[in-house]
Amino acid sequence: MNPIPDRCSSSSCATPRLKTQPSCLQGGCGACVVAIQEYDLANKRWVYRSVNSCLKPLVACHGLSVTTVEGVGSERRCLHQVQKRIAENHGMQCGFCTPGMVMNTYALLKSGGKPTAEESMKNYDGNICRCTGYRNLVQASESFCSDASPEAQQLAEKCGAHDADLCDKLSGRWVESCHARGPEHAKMDVPRQSDAWLMAIQDVSFFKEGFAWYAPMSLEDRRSTLINRWEEALEIKKSKPRAMYILGDTAKGIRQAAYEVLRRLAGVTELNVLEKTGTGLTFGGALTIQHLVEALEQYQEVHTQLQWPKALADGLKNVAQHHIRSEAGWAGNLLITIQRGFPSDLFPCLLAADAEISFVTSNARDEKRLALMDLKPGAVPFNALLTKLHIPNVEGAFFKYYRVGQRKWLSHCFAGAGFRLQMDGAKVKDARVALGYWAATPSRSSKAEGVLVGSQLDTATLQSAIRALHEDLEFAEERQFQTVDNPEGKDSYRRNLPDGYLFKFFQEAQNHFKIKSWPPEELGTLPVKPLKAGDLKFQEAPGLENKPQLSAMGLTTGSVRYTDDQQIPALFGYPVLSEVATGKLEHLDVSEALKIEGVVDVVTAADIPGKNCAGFVPGRVGVEIGETLGDWRVLTGQQLALVVADSYRTAKRGAGAVQVKIANANEDAIITLDQAIAAESYLDSAHFRNTVDKGDLEEGFKASDLVFEGTTYVIGQHAFPLEKQTALAVPEEKKGMTVWHSTQGHDFTRAKLAGVLGVPGSSVVCKQSRAGGAFGPKNSRQVPTAAMAAVAAHKLDKAVRVAYEATLEQLAVGGRHSFKTQYKVGVNKDGKIQACNVESWCNGGCTHDFTGFLNLEMGEAIPSVYWWPNMKINVHAMKTNLPSNTAVRSFGSPQGNFVCEAIIEDVAGRLGKPVEEIREINMFLGDLETVFFVDFPCTRENAVTPWGQPMEYYNADMLWKKLKQDASFVEREKQCEAFNAQHRWRKRGISAVPLAYGHCYAYAAGTGALVNIHGDDGSVTVHHGGCEIGQGTSVAEVSLGCPLDLIRVADTNTEVVPNARFTGGSITTEVVCEAARQACKQLLETLRPHREFLVKRDSKEPSWPELVAAANAVLGHQEKLSATGIFSPAGNKYTTDVEGNALGTYHGDYFTYGAGTSEVELDVLTGEIRPLRSDILYDVGQSINPGIEIGQLEGAFVYGIGYYLYEEPLRDARGVERSQGVWAYKPPMAPEVPIEFKVELLRDNPFPKGVLGSKAIGEPPFMLAYSVLGAAKKAIASVRKENGLPEHFQMPMPCTVDAIQKACLLGSAPVASGWVEAKARSGAVDDARWRALGLELRLGGVFLVGRRERSCKADGQMSWDTSQQSQVTQDVTGA
Ligand SMILES: Cc1cc2nc3c(=O)[nH]c(=O)nc-3n(C[C@H](O)[C@H](O)[C@H](O)COP(=O)(O)OP(=O)(O)OC[C@H]3O[C@@H](n4cnc5c(N)ncnc54)[C@H](O)[C@@H]3O)c2cc1C
Ligand code: FES
Ligand code: FES
Repeated sequence: MNPIPDRCSSSSCATPRLKTQPSCLQGGCGACVVAIQEYDLANKRWVYRSVNSCLKPLVACHGLSVTTVEGVGSERRCLHQVQKRIAENHGMQCGFCTPGMVMNTYALLKSGGKPTAEESMKNYDGNICRCTGYRNLVQASESFCSDASPEAQQLAEKCGAHDADLCDKLSGRWVESCHARGPEHAKMDVPRQSDAWLMAIQDVSFFKEGFAWYAPMSLEDRRSTLINRWEEALEIKKSKPRAMYILGDTAKGIRQAAYEVLRRLAGVTELNVLEKTGTGLTFGGALTIQHLVEALEQYQEVHTQLQWPKALADGLKNVAQHHIRSEAGWAGNLLITIQRGFPSDLFPCLLAADAEISFVTSNARDEKRLALMDLKPGAVPFNALLTKLHIPNVEGAFFKYYRVGQRKWLSHCFAGAGFRLQMDGAKVKDARVALGYWAATPSRSSKAEGVLVGSQLDTATLQSAIRALHEDLEFAEERQFQTVDNPEGKDSYRRNLPDGYLFKFFQEAQNHFKIKSWPPEELGTLPVKPLKAGDLKFQEAPGLENKPQLSAMGLTTGSVRYTDDQQIPALFGYPVLSEVATGKLEHLDVSEALKIEGVVDVVTAADIPGKNCAGFVPGRVGVEIGETLGDWRVLTGQQLALVVADSYRTAKRGAGAVQVKIANANEDAIITLDQAIAAESYLDSAHFRNTVDKGDLEEGFKASDLVFEGTTYVIGQHAFPLEKQTALAVPEEKKGMTVWHSTQGHDFTRAKLAGVLGVPGSSVVCKQSRAGGAFGPKNSRQVPTAAMAAVAAHKLDKAVRVAYEATLEQLAVGGRHSFKTQYKVGVNKDGKIQACNVESWCNGGCTHDFTGFLNLEMGEAIPSVYWWPNMKINVHAMKTNLPSNTAVRSFGSPQGNFVCEAIIEDVAGRLGKPVEEIREINMFLGDLETVFFVDFPCTRENAVTPWGQPMEYYNADMLWKKLKQDASFVEREKQCEAFNAQHRWRKRGISAVPLAYGHCYAYAAGTGALVNIHGDDGSVTVHHGGCEIGQGTSVAEVSLGCPLDLIRVADTNTEVVPNARFTGGSITTEVVCEAARQACKQLLETLRPHREFLVKRDSKEPSWPELVAAANAVLGHQEKLSATGIFSPAGNKYTTDVEGNALGTYHGDYFTYGAGTSEVELDVLTGEIRPLRSDILYDVGQSINPGIEIGQLEGAFVYGIGYYLYEEPLRDARGVERSQGVWAYKPPMAPEVPIEFKVELLRDNPFPKGVLGSKAIGEPPFMLAYSVLGAAKKAIASVRKENGLPEHFQMPMPCTVDAIQKACLLGSAPVASGWVEAKARSGAVDDARWRALGLELRLGGVFLVGRRERSCKADGQMSWDTSQQSQVTQDVTGA
């Protein structure tokens, strides 16, 4: 909980720490969710619900009971069924989100009733998991539902009933009160106290650090010593400009501000009014949005003849997410909308419902009433208190609210609109058109309403209403999406949105008033459905079974420890970061910061005892805290100083008080790739240029029937782990330093920190229990964070923590490299590629970091499974003034794979052939019929990369064919076509992609392990050099033959296992498992004579403890029950002999293969996509743990969906990230995941060269998510085809809703009415069907149609002529 009414921090809840994981601190991720029980004054009943603890001031918890994950079930006693089912179903990887997930479901169950599967799915609207892909989690919750799917029921059965015996054994008392008995025992305990007492306890005051907090119980409260009269309270706002009323205090999740006085309204009796009468509903000023939703739903149940109450409730459910809706008030939402231009959903909903508000100012009895349409900035005095909301009942009204955001849930709307109609016979009697976030303040379109009233709901009216609406549309640009290379952002999309909304409303209204009957699946928005897996197929080998990961119980109960959980008292550091891309740091004035009470010091570059650089091959990982003031050129996100204070909040305030003067700011800044290419700004003078050069390009082009060129851009991606960059430095004796940090490269950090501190490497110890998600940047970009903490700890000789919040991380830490690629391709008429020249440039940011290796992997990912007879690839590393870009999951391969598949699609589009045909014709193919049935390995002699590396055990062609067969690809493709022929406003597409992914051991090879057997009981401690980032695998029990519960995997510690490499490239599990296995082999050899003796003596196999005890009992001849192992495969060119000669030839060691298909549905009117089904067939060799690996696969796939469709880093001209924090950056949530997700791990397929026959899996399935993008493109192509537009097109990345609409070319006509006509035009082709579908189109329209001409040039090359844009005038009805 946030102890004071301001921004929470990870640190502020650290002592004593309960598992309320702080991550975004914005109410946007759900990692911090806890459950509360409170008395609902409005409904006069106890309620149980979940809240975001990061937004909830601790003082606001007075009178509530709060349950954190520790109070649900415990690893030491027994687990609650929610915890057990999530654990058993592999519903976690890094586990950072898990306590929030557990509490989310727990609160739902405890709030009463048995939810349906759909309710349980929708309950995930406030929780993000970056690792798992959601299916396992959603299914675990569904297992408690009344209509659980068979697979969810199976899980319930598998988890069985509550283990009372275990409970009893561990604690007699616990069994009595055990919450863990399952959902049937999850009933709320209702206290007996009277309402009056409950209300009395709400009267609270609190003062701390210049803040005053009042929570009165009445507007006219005389008992309180603090507030004698409410009028005085109202006066506070006059005298104290930074005094505020608050209800949920959730607005700080959107934008922070500092306040002096907070007055909480939740307990005020007069503001807890809730009236429902025949004339409408009245809500007090302390009622939440959830109160509105519930009351409207109840109103609907009573007044069954009405439609609008439920429709309005549905509209309000778009507000934020359920944890916030039950805290946030309608009043706060309205006020932040008019005061800050907030993109509200609530305001336009209520505006269309004709709502009114009441407010008081200086006299509590002088209540004024105001229609919402008049609530504009300045309409209510600044000290006004909103007291009531009135929603009238309008008989016969039909209501709808539409909105689109970057993703379905927890995503502020680009713009929303509410509509209401009343009919009188065939004519419209009354109409409301409420426009939300186009301009700063929502408003009604009186012109559109004027057109509608008295009209019939026909097409002519629709056309006129759209035109009228645009006349009224005030439009304010949305700066978040404007970047230096796309200054318009999403504005043209936002301008077109009302047309689609009005069109949808017409469809639904026509349906409702029985004017036309539309296909139900074309109405409204794309549905959200529970996720299901179908039949997961895999094979378990002895010892390699499907079992929960080692820490599963600890993760679900919150007993595991992340860096912030280390209970070491420490000061807090908050960095001052540069927000300019170039410039000279002239002055850093820290005097104001030092005056703040609690600020201890400000640390700058002058305090660095060693080198101000963390050298990294071949460039630098910046530890730049400003080398010499006045002579240091700054970059965006660079650390300029670190303010150290006694609390996180004070340190943050101090950082805000530091004055920074930078000369020549942003002069000649290089931000975009095009700027870098034009300026020839390469990373170092000898810039990185990786080359594939095979065959003779010119000859290849000459031999081709068609030669064409193209350009692609792929955007970057933030890694977005839920645990952000964090470090805790603790000074030790002899100038030593222990650093706990969240990392994938702890030994690398150790070495760099020794340089920074100027001490021998052995003086620095880096430790970590686990990282709460890593995904790449914690290989290198943790060094600046750890260095800041270490330098401050060194200077002050005290422990110092530095923990980034989401916004800081996205400003300071780079992400995936964006790429520009130009290609020239020669192809034959049959689609066989003859030659391909690729030139790519990546945005490396300011330092090399891993860019060199990344470019190599990007280039090597381009060929994939295809045969390129003549090929050249150059990849250049460009330097820009941005934070260094770095490794992010799959490391260069998604960008390369994107280029590859874009080329294949371009070939298909230009030849007018199905893209799958082009994939197949260029793929390395064996004799599929034979191959399909032969035993593995199935080698293809011709499967060789363009750089000559044999693709050993190649089976991508078999996987491709089997998957297409199993997923009924051809039949479903036909079904999609049939669906598209029947539906105009919904389109479907299905696509399949193959995969070959090269793995390189070099990143992790040589990471060792130490296995210790404890002689007294045979328990085992495994230490290894890998970082636990969610793999959760151990092979020690397989290798030693000892029971799993005797094994503990210890923290990573540079003192125990030295010289570890990075945890990345998906292969650390293999390397570390093999290292542990080597150690175990030695131990077994030590134990062998003892086993032989015991068998001889007892004529039976000894138990593991007996065996170990025997070895440990030999007095004077103590056996060494400790061994180390190391694994460094000698297959790649980085492994050398002592003379430095490479032992291998290629960069990579082996390939893994896969295939995936996806089917999606597109809402043509908004550009939204919903993945319906994905099928994956993947070669993981012999799976080490199928459950964990399927989880990794699904997680990587969903990460890929985020990359291709939703996540959009946006930089402005200063290089500052505009998509900072969860408010602006949108990784996928549950609705973005395929509704049906079928996964098969290829069986009978051990990899002969692999560790225990396995292959890596953490990253490659990412690329199979391209199938979702491919399917979306096919759906778009279907729209274009129907409208007589070229089917072949290129999509920018990511393929967001606005990009999709642009590609559909429906928003391209000069005025909005034009595109409705353009859509209508295609109806002319089949006018009867068009009319049957509904709208009668009477108007002729002028619109643009791109006419595609296919021509065969004299030299035999085909090309498309898209230049012929003709103006066509056509009366679509022929009238
Ligand atoms: C992550 C996140 C996502 C969100 N997404 C959406 C979304 O998609 N759509 C949407 O519509 N909203 C969204 N919201 C906004 C949210 O729904 C709340 O409306 C908003 O946070 C304010 O609610 P509150 O009651 O907590 O206000 P507070 O934070 O308590 O107050 C906000 C302002 O209103 C004033 N105020 C509050 N009550 C009164 C009163 N009775 N009289 C006078 N002044 C008052 C306060 O002084 C303050 O200035 C989101 C919020 C968050 C944090
Ligand atoms: S930390 Fe509270 S919602 Fe993210
Ligand atoms: S397990 Fe959900 S974020 Fe890692």
